[in-house]
Amino acid sequence: MEQNEDLNQFEIPQAKRIYVNKSNSILKKLLIFSPFLFLLFSFFALRLIRNIEIGSLGNINFQTQINRDHRILGHLPYSEIPKEKLVLIEPSIRVHIDMRDSLLEMRDEAKKNGVYLVFLSGYRSINLQNEIFYSLKSFRNQEAAERARVSAPPGYSEHSTGFAIDIGDATKREADFETEFENTEAFKWLIKNAAKFHFKLSFTKDNKFIDYEPWHWRYEGSIEALKVFERSNRKS
Ligand code: DAL
Ligand code: ZN
Repeated sequence: MEQNEDLNQFEIPQAKRIYVNKSNSILKKLLIFSPFLFLLFSFFALRLIRNIEIGSLGNINFQTQINRDHRILGHLPYSEIPKEKLVLIEPSIRVHIDMRDSLLEMRDEAKKNGVYLVFLSGYRSINLQNEIFYSLKSFRNQEAAERARVSAPPGYSEHSTGFAIDIGDATKREADFETEFENTEAFKWLIKNAAKFHFKLSFTKDNKFIDYEPWHWRYEGSIEALKVFERSNRKS
């Protein structure tokens, strides 16, 4: 009995069992990790916002690039040549004085090769271009974009610069202003020789907005002409 009383004086360690509430523990974990989760969320949110901003800036830059050269329906703007720079080369055809000699030499050279070039249209005033674009074409019930495939809006035609010339084949007049002009001897000769006289085909087959015009050539043999067509010759 005495011995038992002695034993009770010692504290006997006992295994303690704590029953933790499960939902409490998840909440605690969430609280511990919440700063990291917040950081992770902020990181992805910022990246998303940045991507959206870059995307819309890209769109704005793209639009600016398109509009920077001020094209309308695929045509670049051109000023009208001052009247004192125009010279008559045919009863009803005037061109820029800079290109007259080269143009006439080209016709003579072709003639020596048995090819007969005929000049169809040279300088056109902005007023005349206005009539062509708004009056003549409207009879055809065409919308502006359709008209612009074959005719430049006023203020946007190379013809107003005096540096453009439409050429036909004197032996095949039915091909005047027609795509089939490309099958004439005149066109074949021009493709081989026009560059010698500083002439270049303006509207090639790869133009998305303007129809192919094998008859329409422009002169690039003077600094003034090169300046006029600089934007058009720029690749980007
Ligand atoms: N035919 C060309 C596009 C012009 O009108 O200038
Ligand atoms: Zn033309």
